[in-house]
Amino acid sequence: MAKEKWWKSSVVYQIYPRSFCDSNGDGIGDINGIRSKLWYLEALGIDVIWLSPVYPSPNADNGYDISDYYGISAEYGTMDDMKALIHECENRGIKIMMDLVVNHTSDEHFWFMEAKRSKDNPYRDYYIWKKGVKDNPPNKMESCFGGNAWEYSEETGEYYLHFYHKKQPDLNWENENVRREIWNMMNYWIDLGIGGFRMDVIDVIGKVPDKEIKENGPKLHAYLQEMNRETFGGKNLMTVGECWGADTESGKLYSDPDRNELDMIFQFEQMSVDQIQGGQKWDLKPFALTALKEAFAKWQKALEKKGWNSLFWNSHDLPRIVSRWGNDKEYRVESAKMLATVLHGMKGTPYIYQGEEIGMTNYPFAGIEDFFDVESVNMYRERKQSGYKEEDIMKSLCAKSRDNARTPMQWNSSREAGFTEGIPWCRVNPNYREINAEKALEDKNSIFYYYRELIRLRKEEPVLVHGTFEMLCPDDENIFAYRREWNGKKWLIVCNFFEEPAVFHYPARGRVILSNYRQESVIRLEQITLRPYEAVICELI
Ligand code: NOJ
Repeated sequence: MAKEKWWKSSVVYQIYPRSFCDSNGDGIGDINGIRSKLWYLEALGIDVIWLSPVYPSPNADNGYDISDYYGISAEYGTMDDMKALIHECENRGIKIMMDLVVNHTSDEHFWFMEAKRSKDNPYRDYYIWKKGVKDNPPNKMESCFGGNAWEYSEETGEYYLHFYHKKQPDLNWENENVRREIWNMMNYWIDLGIGGFRMDVIDVIGKVPDKEIKENGPKLHAYLQEMNRETFGGKNLMTVGECWGADTESGKLYSDPDRNELDMIFQFEQMSVDQIQGGQKWDLKPFALTALKEAFAKWQKALEKKGWNSLFWNSHDLPRIVSRWGNDKEYRVESAKMLATVLHGMKGTPYIYQGEEIGMTNYPFAGIEDFFDVESVNMYRERKQSGYKEEDIMKSLCAKSRDNARTPMQWNSSREAGFTEGIPWCRVNPNYREINAEKALEDKNSIFYYYRELIRLRKEEPVLVHGTFEMLCPDDENIFAYRREWNGKKWLIVCNFFEEPAVFHYPARGRVILSNYRQESVIRLEQITLRPYEAVICELI
């Protein structure tokens, strides 16, 4: 058998640099701050850092609007700091996965500044331009941050496309020169020694605006194959594509190793189960565990033989999982561990978002003035104009705003949670005295050490990496249980997703591998009553 890919038994930790650790007191996290915390990541045991963008950016979308792909934003440090980070990570056995944001640039990128000047500028065709229809935009395509996706540009009297903020014009991937520039840039970073790329909204690069096609355009996979050939192919890096619009069929296209595209995708079906179908993420619907299980099981099965899943609850775009589907009050610790168990027991590469490993919670927003994120602010304005009630808007924002995940990392109980010695760019969650890394490290029963165990198990137990997946009791509304099997080893993962005790039956006994409650070393599963948010991983005997 060919040597297994290293990323199959790896765990990724996402750093949102702005909010991770500030080393120079300007209130903004930075690269040297990250360097000062590598010991912490090593103690947790992770293998890869997914570093959200650190490139120069006007920050219309916190760094996802890049004005120079070859540089480092001064607020984050220098290229020398970045090189030192890569090097120091390497010494600790940690790889850096860079965020590759190439569906769009910033409107302050040199290419766009040139492109907008005239219709015959050599960079014009790097972007997507169209004439309006009378006084209206070319068509009805919408921006993910609200409003029409076309912005009028005075200089030439045409509109340009932006699927996100108007300061994030979409690149024209049809243009070979654009692709060549991107391959060159990727190779530059590969040569610097990075371990891979996380590709921002990669499923929309094959857009066909004339036909209003956004995701999964006809040339998407050809572009990815070309990218693979021209950049990371055969170099043992890790690549993951962020795909909001993927289904299991396209998931296979992206991640089937024989197709030479990406290693895995980051898709969101399981994270959309509490949203009204056809609506936006703000259109809340009550959570049903059965729907969550169905989504996970579908993807586990679809990519079982070919392809690979990413496993995640959180990112800088999602609310904190313990507040969302756990209990961030009296069962915060139990429910955070339970959620971790559900996720880390499955097949795929797990991702941890900074602070998840200590059970950080959503922020207690009081009003619209507490929000920073462009998506949240735009949504508030639009829904106000359309006549939504303030109370309903706030309910959606509190539940789903990206700002929930972006508050500073809580390191200790000193001022500003030890994140900065200055004034933080965004408010620290007031619960930092209770919830912080220092406290977690002092408590052997903390969420942190539980995550560390899960990470260790992934490295040591091939059944977690390669085992088959079988969902148990899919219709049970309270219990999330499944079986993994590999080379005769059978593991059962059983979790009570709620506060009320729940009964589970399985005709076997289990040797307990890990649990968030004290357990006998062998438990009878014929009839077991699970306590609030109880989670058990056991080997069937
Ligand atoms: C997805 C990123 O994760 C998100 O934060 C960003 O706003 C959009 N892509 C646009 O780059």
